[in-house]
Amino acid sequence: MHTPDVYNDKVVRQFMIATLVWGVVGMALGVFIAAQLTWPSLNFDVAWLSYGRLRPLHTNAVIFAFGGCALFATAYHVVQRTCHARLFSDRLAAFTFWGWQAVIVLAAITLPLGLTQGKEYAELIWPIDVLIALVWVAYAVVFFGTIARRRVKHIYVANWFYGGFILTVAVLHIVNSLAIPVSWTKSYPIYSGAVDAMVQWWYGHNAVGFFLTAGFLGMMYYYVPKQIGRPIYSYRLSVVHFWALISVYMWAGPHHLHYTALPDWAQSLGMVFSLILLAPSWGGMINGIMTLSGAWHKLRDDPIVKFLIVSLSFYGMATFEGPMMSIKTVNALSHYTDWTIGHVHAGALGWVAFISIGAIYAMYPRLVGAEKMYSIKAIDLHFWISTLGVVLYIAAMWIAGVMQGLMWRATNTDGTLTYAFIESVRQTWPYYATRMVGGVLFLAGMLVMVWNCRKTWTTARETQPALPVAAVPMAVAA
Ligand code: HEM
Ligand code: HEM
Repeated sequence: MHTPDVYNDKVVRQFMIATLVWGVVGMALGVFIAAQLTWPSLNFDVAWLSYGRLRPLHTNAVIFAFGGCALFATAYHVVQRTCHARLFSDRLAAFTFWGWQAVIVLAAITLPLGLTQGKEYAELIWPIDVLIALVWVAYAVVFFGTIARRRVKHIYVANWFYGGFILTVAVLHIVNSLAIPVSWTKSYPIYSGAVDAMVQWWYGHNAVGFFLTAGFLGMMYYYVPKQIGRPIYSYRLSVVHFWALISVYMWAGPHHLHYTALPDWAQSLGMVFSLILLAPSWGGMINGIMTLSGAWHKLRDDPIVKFLIVSLSFYGMATFEGPMMSIKTVNALSHYTDWTIGHVHAGALGWVAFISIGAIYAMYPRLVGAEKMYSIKAIDLHFWISTLGVVLYIAAMWIAGVMQGLMWRATNTDGTLTYAFIESVRQTWPYYATRMVGGVLFLAGMLVMVWNCRKTWTTARETQPALPVAAVPMAVAA
């Protein structure tokens, strides 16, 4: 069913371009800090260039700028198409775009200056936190307002995931950021001690579960079936997947605080819920991959499908590894080592970045008035160099991590440590260099994507001079 409405695709295009820009910036920062770990002199003795300040800049840029803009772009794209309705308010949608860009620019100024709350993934100082809360509430109003004015009775499952992600992130952000300001740049959290740690990792783990997972699953449920041209493998499974995932994720946070002052029962509870989490995660992965059944040849012919399906394989890998790492005895080895960094990037590059890249390739041409991407070969090239990049990155970190864990715990018969810490650092060097090469490859793939997107845009303009890009009616693409 089509509607005569012209959707608000301007804001989708803006967020899509922002995703590309911040993706390149955030990953270039990743490559730079990877190089700093390989050659520490790259700190140049300049405070704002130091690793300690650029690392949170990297995590904020890739998660909230790159990942965040991809989530805004696709949520607005998907909710309009599946509800057959224009966004609830163009003005509020524009506010979310400019407000979110302001948050990103403020982060890029304050973090290198060393202004931070010191909470991982929630580093930004309180005035920026207030702006984030305002933008997020506007996002919720635009999203749920559009659902409310939908012209189809059914609410497609992708919207359940986007909706769950938007609501939960609002709650997480507000509760974890509660603080008493003492100046424009400094505040104290209202929690203290172990309670502060527990609230922070309740936030931190659910930032993974909802920001880096549920929202991207919304993406998966729309773009995978759309690109393959078949309905999702099991609609019933997708509904079970949704409720199981959101109810289990909430309890897994304590696995970040094993062997700390947190009560032992809470640590064990986190471990048990993390193990249970394997089931809904794999249910969702299987649902996505099996959508290809009967059309497996697309995996060979269409590089966009490759991005989408391989992202699900990495998702499966990260959500198998995570529950294993939450087992206390395994965590005793993995915690503090580069194994965690390998796990993070299996999820972040393999899952989050791959599914976003696939979704952008899938929607980009029609949004700029082109029939398809300028070069399909370039998409294939992008796929292979980034796959090689991720594999180099995570394999290097797995080996380095297990080696570090084993070296740190090795003891001689008289009880003294077998290795000094610096020996483990020396042994890690080749793996840091390999990780950096992996990062360079991944970044190169992003640059190929930017080139391809630009060419698609300019070619569309040249071939359709009478049709201004901003006025292309997208409703026909639903
Ligand atoms: C079933 C799903 C998952 C479980 C049970 C899980 C479990 C874990 C565990 C046990 C750790 C190590 C905690 C520590 O030793 O400090 C960890 C770290 C982490 N995981 Fe996962 N994980 C899952 C999926 C994912 C996915 C899909 C992503 C990314 C998209 C991800 C991102 C992260 C991040 C960013 C950290 C590092 C947090 C920090 O800064 O310390 N996880 N996860
Ligand atoms: C070219 C691509 C990338 C490179 C080279 C890269 C590199 C790095 C490096 C060197 C670190 C610091 C590791 C350490 O402290 O030992 C890091 C941390 C991190 N990166 Fe990336 N990164 C890339 C892409 C991404 C993307 C796309 C995401 C998310 C969507 C991401 C999320 C994170 C997170 C959450 C951490 C903190 C992990 C933790 O504290 O456990 N990275 N990255």
